[in-house]
Amino acid sequence: METNRQHRKLDNNNIISYLSGKPVSIVVSNISKSFGSNQVLRNLTLEVNSSETLVILGKSGSGKSVLLKHIIGLISPDTGSIYINGDNVTQQFDRAKHKVAMVFQSSALLNSITVKENVALYLKEHRIISDEQKLSSLVSSCLSIVDLEGKEDIMPSNLSGGMKKRVAVARALMMNPDLILFDEPTAGLDPMMVGNIAELINGLKQNVKVTQIVVTHNVNLASKIADRIAILYNGKILSIGTFDEMRLSTEPEIRQFFDSSLN
Ligand SMILES: Nc1ncnc2c1ncn2[C@@H]1O[C@H](COP(=O)(O)OP(=O)(O)OP(=O)(O)O)[C@@H](O)[C@H]1O
Ligand SMILES: [Mg+2]
Repeated sequence: METNRQHRKLDNNNIISYLSGKPVSIVVSNISKSFGSNQVLRNLTLEVNSSETLVILGKSGSGKSVLLKHIIGLISPDTGSIYINGDNVTQQFDRAKHKVAMVFQSSALLNSITVKENVALYLKEHRIISDEQKLSSLVSSCLSIVDLEGKEDIMPSNLSGGMKKRVAVARALMMNPDLILFDEPTAGLDPMMVGNIAELINGLKQNVKVTQIVVTHNVNLASKIADRIAILYNGKILSIGTFDEMRLSTEPEIRQFFDSSLN
């Protein structure tokens, strides 16, 4: 039921015709990163294919958020390089050329402005849509795909953690990104919303062809969305493969994610 409802929503929505991500591939080549004496990433290499949904699993503190922040250009590696569609973005990130959106683990909404203003911020700042009515309608349809219709005028402080997370997803979509990085998109959401987020991610993949990298602890979500799963362990990608390949692995460092979640 939920699946049909979400698909209908996506199909009927003008947001999909607004979104037009171009498929991009990512190569993270041999990056290392330390904070003082804490070496977080150790010669990490990862390739993400165009239009792929790649899930990253890793223990708390293993460096998942640090890795995403490298890909979006918020952190530079000590050594190694990052390429988007073959362009080296390690030192200089051309944000006009490579539209990368990130849904932060903390949601990171601006608290002094409404939900609608948060979602519309990118389009306003970059003067992408000047027609207020068109902008409002786009924001409303974007909010409806994350099940927040009618919440336009609410202040972020009056939203639950899960609702903030969904506003952050809507805000990321409004950038019309070629690549979306989701850092724990379902943390704090109830199980029904996990299905909705999975449908949203799968809908984007089918309709928009945007490349997606999703960090999650939620194996149920991973099973619904992942083309491939990468296991981050000890500062490196320990293994990468389909959900079933990972699920059937006998390596203890991989088993730990599946044993605790699926039984
Ligand atoms: N800006 C920073 N300065 C210093 N240390 C940092 C910084 N950012 C991250 N770290 C350290 O890097 C390590 C990895 O952090 P990261 O946030 O990437 O973990 P994570 O895998 O996302 O964990 P979680 O699942 O809990 O979100 C931690 O030891 C953290 O303290
Ligand atoms: Mg994190």
